[in-house]
Amino acid sequence: MPNSKEISLAVIRRLPRYYRFLDELKQQNIYKTSSKELSEKIGLTASQIRQDLNCFGGFGQQGYGYNVDELYDEIGKILGLDQQTEAILIGAGNLGRAVTNHMDFVNRGFKLTGIFDQNPELVGQSIKGIEIMNTSQLGAFFYNNKPKVAILCIPKTVAPAISQSLIDLGVKGFWNFSHCDIVSTNSNIVVENVHLSDSLMTLSYKVSQLK
Ligand code: NAI
Repeated sequence: MPNSKEISLAVIRRLPRYYRFLDELKQQNIYKTSSKELSEKIGLTASQIRQDLNCFGGFGQQGYGYNVDELYDEIGKILGLDQQTEAILIGAGNLGRAVTNHMDFVNRGFKLTGIFDQNPELVGQSIKGIEIMNTSQLGAFFYNNKPKVAILCIPKTVAPAISQSLIDLGVKGFWNFSHCDIVSTNSNIVVENVHLSDSLMTLSYKVSQLK
């Protein structure tokens, strides 16, 4: 298998789609699939799928297709889903609550171990069994825990300063929902900036092109 740094991000971004679809097949007790079937369900060409999966050494067998369980497990490993990376969430407002309540972190490779907010009224409350702590407790928390990832659900005005202090404490990755793109120039800090509005505007474009 090539080093993951050699795999293009475009390929990596398609893997969760394969993974989701393979999970559906597993739920239906389907043990075998083909690039043709994957292409019909996922909306990519069969040759694109074969090319993507070949990046990792190719899992398929000519004339047989892909073993669903094997492919699912391998893609999970490539995505690091078995690592249970420790994560914390900053900002326990509407979005922070929704993300905590609805995201299946464990099955996506993460373990949420702390939630922080600056609002004293929220401190001491719990979301999904995790007590909200005051952001002033971050230093003490990092003394006892080593979260590698921070999920930011805070206003954009405070995101740059908070992200810098989290980097100083040892955070290496951000899932950033605040409407401010964190641009990392440090190859040891990785960021996924998430903007639902980008997707909505893309839909707006597509709808505007309809005849
Ligand atoms: P909210 O006002 O309900 O929650 C924000 C929380 O952040 C509050 O609990 C507040 O006390 C806390 N906070 C503010 N400054 C802080 C600091 N310095 N340290 C720790 N906590 C702090 O807002 P909501 O609706 O949860 O949205 C949060 C952010 O996410 C907003 O900036 C919003 O624009 C953005 N957003 C982004 C979306 C996306 O697709 N990326 C979608 C929806 C919201």
